[in-house]
Amino acid sequence: MKVIYVDNNATTMVAPEVLDAMMPYFSTNYGNPSSMHSFGGNVAGAIETARENVANLIGAAPQEIVFTSCGTESDGTAIRAAIESYPNKKHLVTSRVEHPAIKNLYESLSKKGYRTTFVPVDNQGRLDIEYLYNSLSDDTAIVSLMWGNNETGVIFPIEEISREVKSRGIIFHTDAVQAVGKIPINVGETGVDMLSLSGHKFHSPKGIGALYIRKGTKFSPFMIGGHQEKGRRGGTENTASIVGLGKAAELAAVHLVQNGYERVSRLRDRLEQTLLDKVSNALVNGDPANRLPNTTSIAFEYVEGEAILLMMNEYGICASSGSACTSGSLEPSHVLRAMGVPFTAAHGSIRFSLSRYNTEDEIDVILEKLPPIIERLRELSPFWKKAMEG
Ligand SMILES: Cc1ncc(COP(=O)(O)O)c(C=O)c1O
Repeated sequence: MKVIYVDNNATTMVAPEVLDAMMPYFSTNYGNPSSMHSFGGNVAGAIETARENVANLIGAAPQEIVFTSCGTESDGTAIRAAIESYPNKKHLVTSRVEHPAIKNLYESLSKKGYRTTFVPVDNQGRLDIEYLYNSLSDDTAIVSLMWGNNETGVIFPIEEISREVKSRGIIFHTDAVQAVGKIPINVGETGVDMLSLSGHKFHSPKGIGALYIRKGTKFSPFMIGGHQEKGRRGGTENTASIVGLGKAAELAAVHLVQNGYERVSRLRDRLEQTLLDKVSNALVNGDPANRLPNTTSIAFEYVEGEAILLMMNEYGICASSGSACTSGSLEPSHVLRAMGVPFTAAHGSIRFSLSRYNTEDEIDVILEKLPPIIERLRELSPFWKKAMEG
């Protein structure tokens, strides 16, 4: 059975060009980039080319890019760097819809005595910017806001917000893990001091990420060790994956310049609109006007998202639900709860996230298989029966 993969916000396929670029760094070019001999030195050159490509994708200078092991490490490094650099400031700001990489870190820091503000969003997932600005004070060490939401795709106006936050002398970090490679980003035009990205969200392998640190930003490393990454991240470089990340960044930049995401967003829109037309009581979660081009979160009311996923799985269709399995109960995700999505809709929410590798034929298969699945599940749903009777 052919797999139809529409779960690209979870992870993506490694692009064939990326894999090809990586292969020599497992075999013939296995030197340590820190070695004095040219066998190692050649690898250092490849790392610098990758750094240039990653910098180019987000409008940064190569020296402003530090390679990390993943988006989570980049996020944690940024927050901890701000805390260490401004030890007298005890207030941390973020939103209610962040990825656990930020959410759980903030929760853990709040137990250690930091004051945290989780800025609310409206029912479309849009940030309450007034609330954000009113929360800032001389005690605020950092504001961290995601660029694009992993569940709904909703984009926060990071350019505008970061400039305002920076003008108040506060460090601004953005978790751009879902945005990089999908929308044009130019950090130079923003007030962003630090930005996190992760390779496996745009066709390079898992276990490689980067942190952009604007020149002049106070910083202290999280991984203290050797002098790698100019002392900003100790540990022998993951050379093959860094080369892969560089190649993926180069491909993503070309794809963006060629407006490649227009095709992806047309596929996404056809999938979304046809599902809304064919299935009653289906709604889109999140601001449709301001979303990542590849993402749609659709609530099919009165059915269980997990049941939908299992039945789609029978046809090889891979997507995600809007629930998180916590302590045996299926709680709707904190993102959908923060948006006030009703329980009956949050439970039946499915996230489809596309990539440049998806095709019209794949969308046709989903459109053929999914509506009867929802119909069958609703026939079995006491909530649906009750809602229809009421
Ligand atoms: C918005 C966002 N931030 C951070 C992460 C964590 O990235 P990684 O899996 O590379 O640690 C993810 C992964 O899903 C994400 O979607």
